[in-house]
Amino acid sequence: MQFWRFLYPSALGFTLRTTRQALVDKLRGAPSRPVQVANYVEVHARRGDPADVLRTIDRFAREERWLMNIGPDKAPLIQELAGRLPAQARILELGAYCGYSSIMLASTFGPQAQVTSVEIDADAVASSRRNVDAAGLSGQVSFLHGPSTRVLETLEGRFDLVFLDHWKDLYKRDLQLIEQRGLLGPGSIVVADNVGKVVAPEEFLDYLRTCGRYDCEHREATIEYTDVPDAVEIAVYRGAAIRGAA
Ligand SMILES: C[S@@+](CC[C@H](N)C(=O)[O-])C[C@H]1O[C@@H](n2cnc3c(N)ncnc32)[C@H](O)[C@@H]1O
Repeated sequence: MQFWRFLYPSALGFTLRTTRQALVDKLRGAPSRPVQVANYVEVHARRGDPADVLRTIDRFAREERWLMNIGPDKAPLIQELAGRLPAQARILELGAYCGYSSIMLASTFGPQAQVTSVEIDADAVASSRRNVDAAGLSGQVSFLHGPSTRVLETLEGRFDLVFLDHWKDLYKRDLQLIEQRGLLGPGSIVVADNVGKVVAPEEFLDYLRTCGRYDCEHREATIEYTDVPDAVEIAVYRGAAIRGAA
């Protein structure tokens, strides 16, 4: 990722604020951000109420410390897809962080939907489990701890929705692995967060749009809890068509 992009005038305030927050936490020896969030949810959210858990996490992100959740402005772009997935949707997420999007996905796609979320960071896995439990959705969401590339090697069956939201330089490699392992079928939807001007995984976008296997839609948005431009790519898998075939 090109970090100089965070020095764009539109992103500068955001960069300074988040750097200051990280510095203050470091100097105070504060627990990791995901642990802070789970502690906050434990105190402030109504148990068994997914919407209230999401609102509580949003409040933390606005009033305490910025969080890299999908957030309330981009979540509707994914929630709009509800009518296009089967009731027993299988959903794969790469990057759980504090479990915000896992809660959003499980509560949006209904009680029969199953979310498998892959996360490399142990604190993030623990926080996500606590927050999903607080939302009453533990029966629908399972977390797999480890690097995406290794965990993907262990997964089987088709997923109806794949949400790419881990480190952006891994999007292309992991999507290709997902394809090779047959985890997508015709009509499966791939959603990739953070594909706007500031965070721009260009190689990934180029692959997605030109490989001939996806119908892509680009939706403009803003980085969660800010006015900084961002975007989400929604790509419907056509199947393993050969590049250039009629
Ligand atoms: C943007 S956050 C995910 C936010 C979450 N999807 C949400 O909207 O609430 C990115 C997460 O990806 C995780 N991550 C980064 N690289 C990873 C990898 N190779 N495998 C699994 N998780 C990874 C990070 O630890 C971080 O928690």
